Amino acid sequence: MSIGQAISRIEGVAKVTGRAKYAADHTPPGTLHAVLVGAPLACGRLLEVDASAALRVRGVTRVLSAKDMPRFGAVAPPAAVLNLPLQGERIHHEGEPVAIVLGESPAAAEAGRAAVIVHCERAEPLVLGAGEREAPPSPRMLGDDLDMGDVVHGLSVAQARVEQTYVQAARHHNPMETSGTVALFENGKLTLWDSVQASGNVPPVVAAALGMKAEDIRVIAPHTGGGFGVKGYVWPHQILAAAAARILGRPVKLHLRRHDQFVCAGYQPWMSQSIKIGATAQGALTAIDHAIVNTCAIADTHLEPSSEASKTMYAAPAIRTRQWLERININLPTAMRAPVEGPGMWALESAMNELALELDMDPLDLRLAGYAERDPHTGKPWSSKKLREAYEEGARLYGWRTRRERPRQDGPWRVGHGMATCSMGSFRFPGGARVRLRADGTARIEANTHDIGTGMQTVFCQIAADALGLPLASVSIDWGDTNLRASGPVYGSSATGGTGSAIALACRDIKAQLGALGGGNDPAVILRRAGRAEVAADGAYTLPNGALFSADGEGTPYAMRSWGAVFVEVGVDPELGVLRLRRAVGAYSAGRIINPKTARSQMTGGIIWGWGKATMEESVQDPASGCWLAKNLSNVAVPVNADIPTDITIHFVDEYDEHASVIGSRGIGELGATGVDAAVAAAIHDAVGVRVRDLPILPWKILESLPRA
Ligand code: MOS
Repeated sequence: MSIGQAISRIEGVAKVTGRAKYAADHTPPGTLHAVLVGAPLACGRLLEVDASAALRVRGVTRVLSAKDMPRFGAVAPPAAVLNLPLQGERIHHEGEPVAIVLGESPAAAEAGRAAVIVHCERAEPLVLGAGEREAPPSPRMLGDDLDMGDVVHGLSVAQARVEQTYVQAARHHNPMETSGTVALFENGKLTLWDSVQASGNVPPVVAAALGMKAEDIRVIAPHTGGGFGVKGYVWPHQILAAAAARILGRPVKLHLRRHDQFVCAGYQPWMSQSIKIGATAQGALTAIDHAIVNTCAIADTHLEPSSEASKTMYAAPAIRTRQWLERININLPTAMRAPVEGPGMWALESAMNELALELDMDPLDLRLAGYAERDPHTGKPWSSKKLREAYEEGARLYGWRTRRERPRQDGPWRVGHGMATCSMGSFRFPGGARVRLRADGTARIEANTHDIGTGMQTVFCQIAADALGLPLASVSIDWGDTNLRASGPVYGSSATGGTGSAIALACRDIKAQLGALGGGNDPAVILRRAGRAEVAADGAYTLPNGALFSADGEGTPYAMRSWGAVFVEVGVDPELGVLRLRRAVGAYSAGRIINPKTARSQMTGGIIWGWGKATMEESVQDPASGCWLAKNLSNVAVPVNADIPTDITIHFVDEYDEHASVIGSRGIGELGATGVDAAVAAAIHDAVGVRVRDLPILPWKILESLPRA
């Protein structure tokens, strides 16, 4: 069996030796290099793009502005931005593209960009706190408002209550490889080498914008240098690169500068979440009220549906959720690892930790008292839920029940402990794969999936190897091309379950075909005996009613989620307010774990990402100009190796979820990034008695609340 083995990534050597090709590594002959010119202010009117100086820069070929661009056709999701740039004179946010400089080299294009003069008329931008609050449009994919039971009554009869507001800063995904596209037209057909998490999303959107047929667009995207959600939907640069290539009649490479990544692609919005939660003296929840606002662009909409956390986490007779948008003059936010429950659990789990203090209960016991045996809001049974085991095994690994026996001081550090529940919903998409078993005893998987760094190609080969009874070394995979069999996106922690299930189904079909050829133990022998070069099968993993998307078991008799518990030990230096993550334990219920090595990496990364969210990351909108203050990595604090202890323990509960996928797995990728922030805030409170409710928890916020010596 290769499933369950800690296999190293099959594409690892190609990556560390530089053989793996990313989007911008492709430079077809005659390629022009494109750089975007962005609006210099957050709100106003574009008067003129003066390209005369830029066109005198040696190597600058052309400068395109709105007057040169076609009127784009209407685009729909999975386009992120529906109101495309370079179509009018209104400026909605800083960095909104107003021109594209095309040069014979990246340096020429960059020099040309610096020489373009943009004349604008400034208007007062709407900034954070000043925007209009409005209800998001309905129906919503997620985040519909819920009124279940009588929340007012539930809160009034509670013997302990917490009513607090939890804030989190906006923050950018910042993948190491910025978003980028190389566009090549040949005989009316378009090829895009693209840095994406879901190349299947691209052709319909680009085709609608450019008035083409989606079948005439091919996207090649094997390796993606990090995505985290910012490369999930289709962003304007993909359309602009294709449009420029068509206008110029030459290939165009548009690889976003780091600066442009901040303003021309997504980020996680600023959010404020107000929670009212009540419980009996024994810790049984009586009501949860969760009201959320996220910032959003002026002309396009992203709802961060974090109310899903409160709808599904704990048994409570009354649950009320509300979602709001605050529109400000800034670029459009998007889903960012971990969306939905990531923000939602920051608020809910923080409130649970505060409620435990009110009740003088261990926070773990409060979670057990509120354990939801069925999905609270749909009443459906869980496909599988081993959260109780995750709590228990995680607590044992951490020493949670004996934490008070440990020293509270270590040199300058005051030591505190915190915990939280982790959870992600279950996104499922249809999956597809073709598998070929050949007479030489090898098998090849063909599926249009991607490599965003999670190790998925290895996992897919493990699934096929076991299903066909082959050694792992005999299985290989071809991926990252829309010419291959279409499969689901690589986001929403969905790909192992979706594409992996399709691969398993294709292999079952092949086994049946081998049986019809006479059967036997060695597939190579069966094929040779039958005089066949190969046996191939298409696997199709479908959702109930042919749906293209199912959240949390929608369309099935089951509710589906992944679960976990995270325990953290944090040191606080009360003189400086400096924080240290000293150790962490994450224990998870995520179905069958195909590859414990890549799975562990995902969860460790989630805890590190959570520490960054809790204590470092913050993208600030300048209240005067409406622009992001930092647009390069030198001004963005994220965890580095020196911030992270070696003592991070990851544990998976033994589980097989027969309802969530064909292979027994549920989503894991983003699960590890949930709950960490709430556990960290609780540990800081445990250490020094300071409760910070707005992320990131920076030293000054701790010092501000500590009594001065
Ligand atoms: Mo993740 S935000 O689903 O890439």
